[in-house]
Amino acid sequence: MIIGIPKEIKKNEFRVAATPNAVADLVRRGNTVLFETDCGVGSGFSNADYIAAGGKECAHEEVYKSCDMLYKVKEIEEAEYDLLHEGQIVFTYLHSNAHPDMAKELMARGVTGIAYEDITDENGGFPALAPMSVLAGKGGFLAALYFAQSVHGGNGMLLSRIPGVPTPEVTIIGCGNSGMGAAELAAAFGNKVTILDVNWKAMEAAKDKLPANVEFLYSNRENLVACLKRTDVLINCILWPKTRKDHLVNREDLKMMKSGALIIDVACDDAGAVETCVSTTHDDPIYYEEGILHYCVDNIPSAFSCTASQTLSAATLPHAIAIAQKGVEQALLDNAHLRRGLTTYKGKLTLLETAEKHNMAYTDPKDAILGK
Ligand SMILES: NC(=O)c1ccc[n+]([C@@H]2O[C@H](COP(=O)([O-])OP(=O)(O)OC[C@H]3O[C@@H](n4cnc5c(N)ncnc54)[C@H](O)[C@@H]3O)[C@@H](O)[C@H]2O)c1
Repeated sequence: MIIGIPKEIKKNEFRVAATPNAVADLVRRGNTVLFETDCGVGSGFSNADYIAAGGKECAHEEVYKSCDMLYKVKEIEEAEYDLLHEGQIVFTYLHSNAHPDMAKELMARGVTGIAYEDITDENGGFPALAPMSVLAGKGGFLAALYFAQSVHGGNGMLLSRIPGVPTPEVTIIGCGNSGMGAAELAAAFGNKVTILDVNWKAMEAAKDKLPANVEFLYSNRENLVACLKRTDVLINCILWPKTRKDHLVNREDLKMMKSGALIIDVACDDAGAVETCVSTTHDDPIYYEEGILHYCVDNIPSAFSCTASQTLSAATLPHAIAIAQKGVEQALLDNAHLRRGLTTYKGKLTLLETAEKHNMAYTDPKDAILGK
C-alpha cells in the first residue's frame, strides 16, 4: 500500500502521525511511505530521519494525490478537500461530530474515513485518546505552575512544598487519564492534591499508583464546595457528556474561591462542567472570569509534540499495519475495535453519534462494508 504522511496544516499543530520508527516498520512490510517535506520537524524528526527509515520525500499535493491511505493527525480542512480521491483512506482524528461539513465532504468524495478517537480496545478504553489525555493532564498542571507565577499574571505562588510556607492545594475533578496525569505531576511537586470522582473503582485503582499526598473524595456538591473554598488550583478533567446542559462549577461558585486561585480546564468543554469555560488557544491561552484566571487550551498535547507524536504513532501503528497488510475492508471486518472508528465509507455515514447529532442517515459499518 502507498501511505502518505502530510505535514499538518492546522495552526499550532506540531504533531506528526508516524515517527521514523513507524515508517521503518511499514516499509519493512513492503509498503511505500511518502512523507511531506518537514512533516516531522515540529516533533523533532528531520527529513533525513524519514529517508533513513525508507520514506520517500514529496511535496504537499503529491503526498495527498499519490497515496492510498492518508495517515495524519488532525481532521480534514477545506483546503485539503480537493486533494482527496475516491476510495482513499483517511486515518486521523476526524471529530465528525464537531465537523459535519467535513463528514459530508468525505462522503461526497467516496473517502473511507477512520477516526482515531472512536477506536476502542478490549478494556472499553480509547487507546488513541488515552495517551493524549495523560499528556493534557500533565500539561494542565504545568500550565498552572507557569500561570501562578507573578510574571505571568498569577499571584506568585510556587506550586511546590517549601519549608516554612503553606503547601499549595490542587483540586482535580475527574480521576481518569487526564486527572491521573495532572495528579502525578502535582503530587510529585509536593502539593496537597485532592481528586474528586463519582467512580469509586477509579479512585481505588488510582490510590495504588499515586503517593500519600493525594486524597480522594466522592464528587458531590458538599465536597466540591469545600475544595473550591480552599484550593489554589482547580483542574477540570471530567469527560462531560456533550448533551449535558448543567455545570458542576457555576459562575457564582467562583466568588467563593481564593483570590489568585486558577482554573485549568483540561476537559475544555465550552460551558461544560465549568460554566465559565470557553476554549482558548496556545497563542492566547488565558482569560479572567470573576477575577479567576482560566486556562482552557483545547489542544494541550500539541505543546509536547515530540512526546505526543511518539505515543500517538505507537497507538495507531498496529491498525495502520493491519489496514496496509490486509486491505481496509478485511482489517475492518476482522477487528470490531477498529470498525468502531469507521466514520464514512463509500458515501455512507457509519458513525452513529454524528448521524444522531446532525440528523443524518446512518449505516451500520459492517453493513456498509458488506454492501448490504
Ligand atoms: N485540552 C486538551 O488538549 C485535551 C486533550 C485530551 C483530552 N481532553 C479532554 O479531557 C477530558 C477527559 O478525558 P479523559 O481521557 O481523562 O477521560 P476519562 O474518561 O479517562 O476520565 C473522566 C473521569 O471523569 C469522571 N467523572 C464523571 N463525572 C464526574 C463528576 N460529576 N465528578 C467527578 N468526576 C466525574 C469519570 O468517572 C472518569 O473517571 C475529555 O473531555 C477529553 O476530550 C482534552
